[in-house]
Amino acid sequence: MTNKQSVAIAFATLAVEALSFSTPLPLSSQQRRPALSLSVSQSTPTIAKSSENDDVPWWKEFQLNDAALPASVLSDFPILTDTSFNSEGQLINAATAEGETKRLIYLDSAATSQKPTAVTDALTNYYVKYNSNVHRGAHALSREATSLYEQARDKVCSFINTFNRNEIVFTSGATEAINLVASSLSCTSSYYEKDWMRLVEGDEIIISEAEHHSNIVPWQMAAAKTGAVLKYVPLRSDGEFDLKAFEELLSPKTKFVSVQHVSNVMGTINPVASIVKLVRSKSPEAKIMLDACQSVPHTIVDVQTLDVDFLAASGHKMCGPTGIGFLWGRESLLNKLAPYMGGGEMIDQVFMENSTYAPAPARFEAGTPPIAQAVGLGSAIDYLNKIGMERIHDYEMELAQYLHKRLNDVKGVTVLGPPVGVERAALCAFVCDGVHPSDLSTFLDGEGVAIRAGHHCCQPLHRALGYSHSARASLYFYNTKEDVDGFIRVLEETLDFFRGLEGGDEEGEEDGFVPLF
Ligand SMILES: Cc1ncc(COP(=O)(O)O)c(C=O)c1O
Repeated sequence: MTNKQSVAIAFATLAVEALSFSTPLPLSSQQRRPALSLSVSQSTPTIAKSSENDDVPWWKEFQLNDAALPASVLSDFPILTDTSFNSEGQLINAATAEGETKRLIYLDSAATSQKPTAVTDALTNYYVKYNSNVHRGAHALSREATSLYEQARDKVCSFINTFNRNEIVFTSGATEAINLVASSLSCTSSYYEKDWMRLVEGDEIIISEAEHHSNIVPWQMAAAKTGAVLKYVPLRSDGEFDLKAFEELLSPKTKFVSVQHVSNVMGTINPVASIVKLVRSKSPEAKIMLDACQSVPHTIVDVQTLDVDFLAASGHKMCGPTGIGFLWGRESLLNKLAPYMGGGEMIDQVFMENSTYAPAPARFEAGTPPIAQAVGLGSAIDYLNKIGMERIHDYEMELAQYLHKRLNDVKGVTVLGPPVGVERAALCAFVCDGVHPSDLSTFLDGEGVAIRAGHHCCQPLHRALGYSHSARASLYFYNTKEDVDGFIRVLEETLDFFRGLEGGDEEGEEDGFVPLF
């Protein structure tokens, strides 16, 4: 039995076993950042051959402009430097490892980013020194915890350039932020004031076929509850947002548009400015929500420049802890939404018969909020700002093109989404002829390469592309050229191995993939 086969069996065995803040506080001009936004108009970094020697593959001598960036941050991420795998593919600590080891290549940051020690220290520091409940306590610890929690809100405000500090609602993540808006809009109780924003029968909601399930299912639920009609912008064959089809769907009946900024599968960067322009001219009543999960961690996102009405993002994809994200909404609109959850903190007055509600953001932060997580997110924002979001963006754009081009060169690999040369986010979902993405990720895992396989919470998108699953490698500013090279080497070896197996390209499943395990 070869080493690869024994690793495969070990992993197959494992897999089977496992099976009120009411006073608006404008931001100071110093807190604001330059009004840049991620858009298709930015120039696409080109990957040029740096050697005249045709015997040397182009990528061997290729160098990234800012390779100093990952080099300067790697020591902030012990999980990236200290995690290794032994020859059996088991996770071990590099410091105590004996014999031959393989280092971790983490290519799953679109699912969740790694956390720098600045963030883990901030979490520990909060619990060790200041743990207390916020807003309620008349004691020093509570005041300190409240101050840290509200400082975190200010950091988020500044990070995305909100109009004022009442516009950020802390949520458990982007999923909750989108659910909050969809659920509040579909409140049918006559108990709530008439002029609160709500969806009614016949209203139209537009989303796209490429959305994450978090930006599909809440709208399906809202439509089912209110009688509103859900419409989808179909996927364009090149993976780009279909502005023409979108324009045709827009009408005076359109009440809400919710689209992603960046696709978590294809890396497509949506033309937000054009989307907003079309909505404002063809459906002036409609409000626009941006799912910015895959853009806020990677580039400067400025809500004032983007000119949308709501925006959702997750803290754990931007170096922050899990369990925290945020909803941004224009204050006037947030205060027109019905409450999402009832409980402490979100009220003004409670009577036996009814209650009145606090304005945003307290209106949507019922109960004890994720205090430590918010503090951790604040620290993540400080960390990202210290590196500089423009620098992170520029580095990732170049690394994205490098990854895309290298993957594209691998025989039998199809990268989903826009072709090489078109600006895309630093991630590539791909399929390989005759090899199931799950098998691929299992084998790569055995070699220390962490990628993701599945539908990435985008089943309609995968169906439209003609696949049930794909594999995905996603990058962040701590990834290096060597990470990409290591991944491609292991990928090529794995594909060679599978192609050498009998039955590696049997038929089955809806798209011809048969998982080995
Ligand atoms: C585009 C997009 N939207 C929404 C989400 C949901 O984010 P969360 O699970 O953090 O709420 C994700 C997560 O992968 C995503 O990539």
